[in-house]
Amino acid sequence: MSDDGLSRRQYLSTVGGTAVTVSLAGCFGGGGGGDDGTTEITAGTAPGFPPFEMKEDGELVGFDIDLLEAVVDETDYTLAGWEEFEFKSLIPALTNENIDVVAAGMTINDERDETIDFTDPYYSSNQAIVVREDGDFSPSSLSDLSGRPIGAQKGTTGESTVQSELIEPGNLDESNYNSYGNYVLAVEDLQNGNIDAVVIDEPVAQTFAAQRPVVIAFTYETGENFGFGVREGDDEFTQALNDGLSTVRDGSTYQDLTNKWFGQQ
Ligand code: ARG
Repeated sequence: MSDDGLSRRQYLSTVGGTAVTVSLAGCFGGGGGGDDGTTEITAGTAPGFPPFEMKEDGELVGFDIDLLEAVVDETDYTLAGWEEFEFKSLIPALTNENIDVVAAGMTINDERDETIDFTDPYYSSNQAIVVREDGDFSPSSLSDLSGRPIGAQKGTTGESTVQSELIEPGNLDESNYNSYGNYVLAVEDLQNGNIDAVVIDEPVAQTFAAQRPVVIAFTYETGENFGFGVREGDDEFTQALNDGLSTVRDGSTYQDLTNKWFGQQ
């Protein structure tokens, strides 16, 4: 990043970055320079998606939290804090300028790309179909879900998979599909026997399977890539995040965080 704080502020004001504030340190610090103001940004996420983001003892933790913080540390921006939303509210929060970046295991896809921009990918995933561990239901393909009550999180690609692969082709009645505000609620309903399967990103399915009496019945290949979501037109910020991401990947930080949150691999 070669730009100074002033040009960044001017840039952000031209794209309407009103949620972006300049830290006081930048105004008062240095005595003479005046150019060292860093731009504060606010991140948004949707906990209940372990190990990417979850609450532990009231604290927001996870791979996305650590990764975004490490990436922002490599830039001239400062992370002012995190805000929590339901997943489906993240894109509106971004476009409304309540937040400046989304770190929520969000899949990069064409539909979302019409409204927001994404950084380079930082993780890949497929969908997994999770069932009760001690149950007698062991589906091995999506068509086996036909006639069964199933669930996914509202606004996710898991939900889109149910829509496009099951409901639209007529293999599942709409009334069998249950949409949840977060995946913890969906998995709890699975454990309680209210639904028979949950369609969810594979790394998150693995985490639930390690922590709860549920198992992955099979995976459905979608070849998704997660990226950080940014406002359309925030090109300077997006570029800074991409540069930060490649620095974090080139060093040991990315691997360290992967080991921390997904185990040695
Ligand atoms: N990868 C999926 C998607 O983009 C699910 C993301 C859910 N993320 C979350 N933090 N709940 O739709």
